[in-house]
Amino acid sequence: MPETNRNQENGKYTIEEIRRDFPLLQNTDYAYLDNSATSQKPVQVLEAVRKFYETKNANPFRGLYPLSEEATEAYEDARETVRAFINAKSTEEIIFTRNASESLNLVAYSLGSLLFAPGDEIVVSIAEHHSNMLPWRAAAERAGAKVVYLECAPDGAFTEEMLRDVLTERTRLVAITQVSNVFGRKNDIRRFAEICHERGVVIVADGAQSVPHMPVDVQELDVDFLAFSGHKMLAPDGIGVLYGKKKWLQKMPPFLSGGEMIESVTRDKIIYAELPHKFEAGTVNAGGAVGLAEAIRYIQKLGFDWIEEREQVLTALAYAQMKEIPGVHIFGSEDPLDHHGILTFTVDGVHPHDVSEILSASKIAVRAGHHCAQPLMGHLKVGSTTRASIAFYNTEEEILRFTEALGQVRRVMGYGK
Ligand code: ALA
Repeated sequence: MPETNRNQENGKYTIEEIRRDFPLLQNTDYAYLDNSATSQKPVQVLEAVRKFYETKNANPFRGLYPLSEEATEAYEDARETVRAFINAKSTEEIIFTRNASESLNLVAYSLGSLLFAPGDEIVVSIAEHHSNMLPWRAAAERAGAKVVYLECAPDGAFTEEMLRDVLTERTRLVAITQVSNVFGRKNDIRRFAEICHERGVVIVADGAQSVPHMPVDVQELDVDFLAFSGHKMLAPDGIGVLYGKKKWLQKMPPFLSGGEMIESVTRDKIIYAELPHKFEAGTVNAGGAVGLAEAIRYIQKLGFDWIEEREQVLTALAYAQMKEIPGVHIFGSEDPLDHHGILTFTVDGVHPHDVSEILSASKIAVRAGHHCAQPLMGHLKVGSTTRASIAFYNTEEEILRFTEALGQVRRVMGYGK
């Protein structure tokens, strides 16, 4: 975000200025309220990616000529930006992947092959996105281990007691999201990590819905692994991150094999590359990493204090308006502050897909379905729901357009109100 051409209100950028950074927001008449699925991208990120391809593109790590060295440097600078952003101890602990799903598959496959034995238990919260559930189910199947579900309270809360109750002598690992993509509720990962570590249990957190919206410090949380995606935090598609403690990553075997993840290969012997390269087989996504680093700089310029406050105000407004609409039921906590921009709901008598289509007719983009959390839908005894998810660049006017249109849904479907 250039400092020039910017009026500042009380040291903050105005929403109009911020929205001008997002070309898509200028090119659509939709109120985009599907930010938990993916975020929009500011021009600074798009330009950084374009500039990389226009001026530095060569295969990183391969060439002994300046262009390739510059590409390597841009990629490794991006890794350092990510490291500092989540306060990892070392860039060796930052693995670039395609997305959070790939990050979680990497840990489940690789760590799972070391950690799990027949009869072991893997605790997975029932609120997990499929990407932090299915890899563990596959790992359990491979090892003859068992997945044990950590159930949540009706309002989406997980307490320390609930976690303690489910841990046994056989528990090896706990997989839990930091912020649920359905409830928006934040779990106390730091405390959960303490409880796990007291028992020698590994904890893997899904940060896909937290890292874009709040400060996340992996040393403070003391998680063993944290996964997140670039595309939900203003960066391009196809770049994700796995943070892992070095003590684990060093022991873990590679997930994918191929180019650049080796030190040497003979007919009979393979010596793998040092961290983090051991886990980055094939040509890396340097353009994506550069875009992610620029997205982080954009977020840092706005500041999480401001982002969190802005998203809270918008969420509280949406929540209060939705509560006034007959037949609308919001899942999760009754405190809008617990929602972190995510409002998942049903409308009496109207299928969530119809809700979404009726809203779409009023130019409101929301997500309907199971939100890749089908076991949670089962737990909540619903087939599907509709979800509005908010980002800092949304406006009060968009929120009111959404709640106004939502208030019409039952009427459109032929109900009195
Ligand atoms: N994980 C994304 C969501 O919750 C796709 O919508």
